[in-house]
Amino acid sequence: MQFQVIKAGSARQRTACAIVGIHENATLSEAAKRVDRAAGGSVSRLLRRGDFSGRSTEVFPVTALRRGPAERILLVGLGPKSSYGRKPYRRAVFAATQWLARTGCANAVSWLAADPVPGLDASYAVRHAVESVSNALYRINDLKSGKKPPLPRLSRLGIVVADPEADAAARGLRDGNGIAAGMARMKDLANLPGNVCTPRYLAEAARALAKEHKSVRAQVLDEREIRKLGMGSFLSVTRGSDEPPRLIVLEYRGGEKDQAPVALVGKGITFDTGGISLKQPPGMDEMKFDMSGAASVFGALKALATIAAPINVVGIIPTCENMPSGRATKPGDIVTSMAGKTIEVLNTDAEGRLILCDGITYSRRFKPRAVVDIATLTGAIVVALGAHYCGVFSPDDKLAAALAAAGERADDRAWRMPVAEEYSELLKSNFADLANVAGREGGAITAACFLWKFTEGLTWAHLDVAGSAYLTGTHKGSTGRPVPLLVDWLLHGA
Ligand code: BES
Ligand code: MN
Ligand code: ZN
Repeated sequence: MQFQVIKAGSARQRTACAIVGIHENATLSEAAKRVDRAAGGSVSRLLRRGDFSGRSTEVFPVTALRRGPAERILLVGLGPKSSYGRKPYRRAVFAATQWLARTGCANAVSWLAADPVPGLDASYAVRHAVESVSNALYRINDLKSGKKPPLPRLSRLGIVVADPEADAAARGLRDGNGIAAGMARMKDLANLPGNVCTPRYLAEAARALAKEHKSVRAQVLDEREIRKLGMGSFLSVTRGSDEPPRLIVLEYRGGEKDQAPVALVGKGITFDTGGISLKQPPGMDEMKFDMSGAASVFGALKALATIAAPINVVGIIPTCENMPSGRATKPGDIVTSMAGKTIEVLNTDAEGRLILCDGITYSRRFKPRAVVDIATLTGAIVVALGAHYCGVFSPDDKLAAALAAAGERADDRAWRMPVAEEYSELLKSNFADLANVAGREGGAITAACFLWKFTEGLTWAHLDVAGSAYLTGTHKGSTGRPVPLLVDWLLHGA
């Protein structure tokens, strides 16, 4: 899919479809008036007849036009003018694209960003459009053997902006393209089944990413090397599996050589059965998404490399399966983490924190200025926040606020949750330095507090994305989140 920014002053080229936004019971915007005039008043006639109300996401194609540079005009509802902003704008772009994807239109020109969108500057208006269109056109690289529905013909979209905003719009175009590519990479990986997307598959995907971009370097450590590093906590999770684990290190270098990197640590459990603390069957297939944190690190680095962002970022991905077997770790087993702390594994289903604590410890060798781990860590965060916000945990007020603000701007929202001593105390063990679980109460918080214990001297935050990284039900699949949040934060100077 190709996007292009067009200055309003020069927008008169031929197009298969002009996309025009209309508010509920509103008169035509300046942009709509221009398109209407060029088409000999077809739009205003139609509105006078009351054929289109402008309700949010309502679409109405005006076809068989005899005048003007557009073969069709697609009216898209923007909802009431009083509540117009980022959300209705994104929904309108998405709805228009869904309609276009079902038609023979190979190209289109959107006028939705030609009028100001409250709360969005031109750069974000274009970025959101690129993201929203790319998301609407994303198709799962599925394994259905039957006849596939034809792919959308749409391959070029012009985005009209007010003339003075062309520079900001170009920035939005570049960032939007990068974020869209990153989200697609994350989705492609996370949607794969567990028997395809194994730790070794992820290692190959890391090498492939490094091949695609000169600015990315991939390093893969095998089980022997992981053992040499002393990652006893990580290795305790992989014991029951016949698939070998991997530690993947991805380095993106876009900044000055001596600039300290940001470390992103992603949970890469390619399938989580729970281990000996076996999960219930319903919905267990969704545990193929338990490598979404890892996939979001791939996505963020893909985005940064595409954008050529001027920063250094290192991605650290401990990846393995969590399986039961005669060799698997048992409840009550005690393991030694890379940091030297001993851990009593009371529940083998709390495995994410066991691989992440060693990943966080490993990040120290890069002397990072900030460490952010990303994980589908707890069912408790799904209960607390549902699918719309992910949880952001950090003892650092500034970092927590920066991540939440990035999520707001990127429309990939994060809600701050607490980390506090009172919760860490619940992780006490009679036999080891700490236990890997506390009770049911505050489960997402005690999980974060477990990780907190491994972050002394680091500027650290944890994103629990168990509710937001993928959808369940009829729309089951990866969402590509939190790639937009991470990239926005990193582009804003992290
Ligand atoms: N991968 C799961 C968390 C999860 C649950 C993600 C539901 C997405 C949807 C994690 O490894 C896990 O099993 N966590 C346990 C922790 C518990 C044993 C303390 C959980 O949340 O039940
Ligand atoms: Mn688990
Ligand atoms: Zn898990």
